[in-house]
Amino acid sequence: MSHDAVNGRLRIRDVQVQYGAVAAVAGVSVDFVPGRITGLIGPNGAGKTTLLNAISGFTGMTSGTLDLDGADITASTARMRASMGIVRGFQTVRLLERESVFDNVMVGCERLPHPPLLAQLLNLPSQQRCRSRDVAAVRKTLSALGLLADAHRLTSELPYASRRLVEIARLLLVRPKVLLLDEPAAGLDAAERRRLVSTLRAYHAENPFTLIVIEHDIDLVRKLCEDCLALAQGRVIATGTPSEVLENPLVRTAYFGQPAHA
Ligand SMILES: Nc1ncnc2c1ncn2[C@@H]1O[C@H](COP(=O)(O)OP(=O)(O)OP(=O)(O)O)[C@@H](O)[C@H]1O
Ligand SMILES: [Mg+2]
Repeated sequence: MSHDAVNGRLRIRDVQVQYGAVAAVAGVSVDFVPGRITGLIGPNGAGKTTLLNAISGFTGMTSGTLDLDGADITASTARMRASMGIVRGFQTVRLLERESVFDNVMVGCERLPHPPLLAQLLNLPSQQRCRSRDVAAVRKTLSALGLLADAHRLTSELPYASRRLVEIARLLLVRPKVLLLDEPAAGLDAAERRRLVSTLRAYHAENPFTLIVIEHDIDLVRKLCEDCLALAQGRVIATGTPSEVLENPLVRTAYFGQPAHA
């Protein structure tokens, strides 16, 4: 286990995000257990993406507080939160198509500390050490995600599932404390979903961090997540293990439009 396994304790209190008359998030309080994988489920428009955006700082909150490892980060910008270890993925793949897999993941190194620009331009020893560190980090992450053999291929040549993994590798590279993924399995077939789950689980077992995943595929939530949180109309309607939450009558009605016995 990593020595920083206890980091990534995210506590959110009374979070509200109001868009005009729409309460996209209507007072959500959650303690995310550090080092665990939480599935965030709920019907379309439940406020899942908005909640992740509020946590990452991408969207401003109307009210509420956020606390990371005991520090109040409510007033921190998205950039500050990223540097503190709150990292987000996007609902669609965003890669540099004409660059290699390696270089795409290397982009993640921008978030790591670097020597001053002059040292970089003159390729001073501090810059050379930094470059070696970055290359080693990229190789390690590619290897952990089963992408090393593709390192020098162009991302545009890869199948969609691998492209998603490249994007995730770029996010993992900076060793986030809290990683927020919005429907990472969207567009993947059953075999690709299994690969994503086993890859993420294996990586997470080796490098624990707080992982929050929005997902519509219930089977995937059961296989990937340890905890589960269901939202409907901007509010938390159930928390617990994936099985507990998925069997909750409120969840079944809100999410599947059917009661528990159906
Ligand atoms: N930028 C915005 N401006 C106005 N309303 C918004 C905005 N973003 C989201 N909403 C509204 O807030 C509510 C929650 O949307 P959100 O995208 O968070 O839901 P979601 O649970 O992620 O849904 P989906 O499963 O479809 O991705 C919806 O009613 C949506 O129309
Ligand atoms: Mg969404």
